[in-house]
Amino acid sequence: MSTATAPARIAQHRTYLMCRPEHFTVSYSINPWMEPARPTDTAKAVAQWQVLHDAYVALGHEVLLVDPVEGAPDMVYTANGGFVIDGVAYGPKFRFVERAVEEEPFMDWFAANGFRLARPIEVNEGEGDFLLVGDVILAGTGFRSTGDSHREVGELFGREVLSLTLVDPRFYHLDTAIAVLDPVQGPGGVDKANIAYLPGAFDDASRAVLEQRFPDAILVSDEDGDVFGLNSASDGYNVFISPRATGFEAQLRERGYNPVTVDLSELLLGGGGIKCCTLELRRDEAGA
Ligand code: ARG
Repeated sequence: MSTATAPARIAQHRTYLMCRPEHFTVSYSINPWMEPARPTDTAKAVAQWQVLHDAYVALGHEVLLVDPVEGAPDMVYTANGGFVIDGVAYGPKFRFVERAVEEEPFMDWFAANGFRLARPIEVNEGEGDFLLVGDVILAGTGFRSTGDSHREVGELFGREVLSLTLVDPRFYHLDTAIAVLDPVQGPGGVDKANIAYLPGAFDDASRAVLEQRFPDAILVSDEDGDVFGLNSASDGYNVFISPRATGFEAQLRERGYNPVTVDLSELLLGGGGIKCCTLELRRDEAGA
């Protein structure tokens, strides 16, 4: 597809929750990217994070901040702090005890900021494993969130859930293997919505579901997946991606998106990238 024929894309206003990585370090290992013996540079993490924050603001998005908690070095990855639709915040219940310390600070923040709380029974890691595409929830399992959490989230939000199984330990959260490019909402939204994904991150059955439901999806190469290219945020026009995902960048341009590159190399030492540092806050109509 040439740029001339690519559909016109529209940037939609987004509200994001972020957490400045003031206490970022790698002191434990709960994914293959984390090597506690390797030094980290907290000041560099903060500086890189600030570039992402400022890029969102410069493009008109609203960014809200939750205070970082000492002893919670992974709290910068706010995508895991919940899953928020219609002003309701479904809380996280982390797989590993190392991150359980984050659960209450996130819930406290949601309560203090006018969101209704839905406390989880099942193990789930928020928007790391749940992605809203139109009116459908894509839900990941295999490493972190359980299949039972998929049922729980479907009942809570009254939306269809497509369960997808991740099989490569490097891509342990759904948001490391799928990027939602058109975050349209509302009935029929899924027809307009599109995604990009890394086929090798999924089992055969899940790949078949993705092929059937998203025939126009961008299939991203292993090279771009390996540098966390899929771990990106989109407003429907601007797609915030790693500068190292050059093939994906070209695919996005061909389709009429505007790739905005932000380097979070330091945060990749914790196994997270752009999307991991970004939690979308979807308020209800009344603005709650
Ligand atoms: N160190 C964190 C963990 O292993 C990284 C989380 C990345 N977050 C994400 N949404 N993929 O839990």
